[in-house]
Amino acid sequence: EMKDLPTMTPKFLKIVDQVCEQCHKDFAPDEVEEQVREHILQDLETFIRRHIEGAHLKLFGSSKNGFGFKQSDLDICMVLEGQDTAMGLDCIGIILSLARALGKHSGLKNIIPIITAKVPIVKFCHVKTGLEGDISLYNRLGLHNTELLASYASIDPRVRQLCYTMKVFTKVCDIGDASRGSLSSYAYTLMVLFYLQQREPPVIPVLQEIYDGQTKPEVLVEGWNVYFFKDLKDLPRRWPSYGQNRESVGELWLGLLRFYTEQFDFKERVICVRQKDTLSPFQKQWTSKYITIEDPFDLHHNLGGGLSRRMINFIMKAFINGRRVFGTPAKAFPPEYPDKMEYF
Ligand code: CTP
Ligand code: MG
Repeated sequence: EMKDLPTMTPKFLKIVDQVCEQCHKDFAPDEVEEQVREHILQDLETFIRRHIEGAHLKLFGSSKNGFGFKQSDLDICMVLEGQDTAMGLDCIGIILSLARALGKHSGLKNIIPIITAKVPIVKFCHVKTGLEGDISLYNRLGLHNTELLASYASIDPRVRQLCYTMKVFTKVCDIGDASRGSLSSYAYTLMVLFYLQQREPPVIPVLQEIYDGQTKPEVLVEGWNVYFFKDLKDLPRRWPSYGQNRESVGELWLGLLRFYTEQFDFKERVICVRQKDTLSPFQKQWTSKYITIEDPFDLHHNLGGGLSRRMINFIMKAFINGRRVFGTPAKAFPPEYPDKMEYF
């Protein structure tokens, strides 16, 4: 069926299945590694509370969303007791005193406060594990989108397998580093989730559109509605398509590469996981951008907004190549992960 590609064979499709399953198995942290993260968090909180009264730390990002790698950074959000929002706080001052305090912790190195960025953070490296981390203040939407992604991850094992495959793919192709002008892992995860919602029948629902009654409940955080359906054990009753998609993970992966290389109309559509209805870049006034990815809660945030034209071409080429490599039955496949996989 694949245009200009040799016919897929059942045998090769099985190999693609195995590659996708293996990406998850090879790179997901095991239970002990998860506990180590929690332990570091606890230790940091105890230490910080000796310097900053009432400080609480929460893990978010890939340590908690179900799509973490063994070497993923620790994304930490700090809040202060009795203080609901960052309003009225001297965030830069707090970040600087946090950095000063962490400087006295013997288990950490490379402590760098970054106060010029949109969100001030302190970066650090945990010496014993080599894990990097950053602490931000009151990133409440981050906590909620982490929970949303974790919910999608828990609906069907193929969700995690595909998101890991995507992450490995973007690292190998060098298109997965937001700090170097590419898309973030978070953005690629949203691309996978969107594709799985669009699949016919869909693999996952739109959790933000499942609710009782006529109108969507409103749970406001930082001015945005963070409501989504959380009672997942009730999903089979609440979502008619539950369990209907029986494609193998390899079929879904090949389908994803085809979707983003020849089916999805980037000019006319926004990658948007919060609703099933199509959304156009025109509606969002994001017409000057070729790749538009709407954050599920912060609807002003286009995750593709920072991409240069060059980078967009580079990303699109990687997907086209990926589709050729994965879609061509070959004897020596898969190749070993390249050396640089050891670094993440
Ligand atoms: N985040 C966000 N908006 C962005 C980037 C990140 O809300 N534009 C939030 C997401 O909750 C994301 C978290 O910050 O999960 C951490 O971002 P990052 O460390 O870049 O990605 P991870 O999802 O943690 O993936 P990785 O394993 O690569 O660290
Ligand atoms: Mg992270």
